[in-house]
Amino acid sequence: MSETIRAVRGMNDLLPADAPLWAFFEQNIREWLKSYGYREMRTPILEHTGLFKRAIGEVTDIVEKEMYTFVDALNGESMTLRPEGTASCVRAAIENNLLFDGGKRLWYAGPMFRHERPQKGRYRQFHQVGVEALGYAGPDLDIEHLLMTARLWKKLGLAEFIKLEINTLGGAEARASHRQKLIAYFAAHIDQLDADSQRRLHTNPLRILDSKNPAMQAMVEAAPRLIDELDAAARAHFEAVKRGLEDAGIDYQVNPRLVRGLDYYNYTVFEWVTDKLGAQGTVCAGGRYDGLVAQLGGKPAPACGFAMGVERLLVMMAEANLLPAPDVPDVYLVNVGDAAARYALTAAESLRDAGLSVVLHAGGGSFKTQMKKADASLARYAVLIGDDEVAANQVTVKPLREGDQQREQQRVALTEAIEFLKG
Ligand code: HAM
Repeated sequence: MSETIRAVRGMNDLLPADAPLWAFFEQNIREWLKSYGYREMRTPILEHTGLFKRAIGEVTDIVEKEMYTFVDALNGESMTLRPEGTASCVRAAIENNLLFDGGKRLWYAGPMFRHERPQKGRYRQFHQVGVEALGYAGPDLDIEHLLMTARLWKKLGLAEFIKLEINTLGGAEARASHRQKLIAYFAAHIDQLDADSQRRLHTNPLRILDSKNPAMQAMVEAAPRLIDELDAAARAHFEAVKRGLEDAGIDYQVNPRLVRGLDYYNYTVFEWVTDKLGAQGTVCAGGRYDGLVAQLGGKPAPACGFAMGVERLLVMMAEANLLPAPDVPDVYLVNVGDAAARYALTAAESLRDAGLSVVLHAGGGSFKTQMKKADASLARYAVLIGDDEVAANQVTVKPLREGDQQREQQRVALTEAIEFLKG
C-alpha cells in the first residue's frame, strides 16, 4: 500500500458528525444578520499581498509572520491567502463603488488563513463571520454592533460564558502624541524590553502594550496611557458608546490595554472574551476603522465592524452541550432482489416528490443486514421491498423509533404508504 497523504497541519476537515452543528450555527447567523438588515457578500480567498500589507500594517504579527504568501508561478505576482476579511470587503466595496448612494451594512463568512502555532481554538485555516458597516460615522453603529453580538450570544445560549471588553484608541493626533510618549518611556526602560518589543520600539510601540511577557507586565502597566491624550470628539464618541451599552443593560469592562493586532483601528475597539477556551479566549473582536477606505484608495468614508471565530464559538457550544438534534432521514428504503432494487429506485423518487427524505439502501444484502443499516441510520421508518411487494405492487412500512412503535407494520400501496408517512 502506498503511504497516506495527510491534511496540512492546522487545517481541519469538517466531518459529517460535526456538520449539523455548523449548519445550525450558520442558520442562526443568517436569521440574526437579516434581523439587523445586513447583506451578504463574498470575496475571493486569494488577494494581492499588497492589500493586506497596506490595510493590516507592515509591522503586525499577521503581516510579519502569519500570512500564506507565495509568488504566482505564472506571472510572478505576490499573492496571499486572506488572513482576515475586512481588507477584502473594503477593497471590493471601493472597486464596485458600493458606497455611491451612502452607507452599507455588509457581512461575509468563510475560511481565513494564518500561519500560527496550532492549538485548541487556534488553527491555520479557521472560519470567520464578519460584519462591516461602511460609510457611518456615529457611535450608533458601534453600539449596534455591540448589541447585535450580545443578542447572538443569547440566541446561541452562550451569553453567560462571554464578557465584553472595550477601549478607545482615539483619533490620529492622539495616537501620534501617545506614540511619542510611549517611545520615550520604553526607550527609558529598554533593558526590560524583550527582543520582540525592542524591535517594535520605533515601528509599532503600541503593540508593546499588548505583550503577554510576564517579566514586562509591571513596566507595561505603568506606561503612558492613550486615554489621557484623547481630544473632546474622541471622548464624546466613547462616552456615547458606553451610554448605549448601559441603556441596553449590557455589562462591559473598559480595558485600557486593549489595542488589537491590526493597525487600521481608531476610536472604539472591543473584544468578547471567554475563560472557557484556555489561551485562545477571544471569540469575537472588532472596532472602528475610519481611515481604511481612504487608505485603500477609496473616497474617504468612516467604517466599523467585527469578526467572530466560528471554531471557537462551536467548541464552546459543544462543551456546553448546546447541540442541535442530529439530522435523521424519514425513511430507510430496504430492497432485496433485482426486481425490488429497480422498483425501489422509482419508489424512492416518489417518496422524495412527497417531501420525505430517503436513504436508499445500496450494495445488496439480506433483509436482516439491511434492517441493521436502517436502524443505524436513525431513520424513523424502514420501507421494505422484496419479491412479494413487487408482485403485489405494494411496500411494507415498518416504524423504527419508540414513539412510532405503536403504529404497526403494514403492507400497502405506495400511495397509501406516502399518506401514512407524511401523517
Ligand atoms: P481578529 O481579532 O484578527 O480581527 O480576528 C477575529 C476573530 O477571529 C478572533 O477574535 C478569533 O475569534 C478568530 N481567530 C483569529 N485567528 C484565529 C485562528 N488562528 N484560529 C481560530 N480563530 C481565529 C479581524 O480579523 C478583523 N478583521 C475583525 C474586524 C472586522 N474588525 C473590523 N471589522
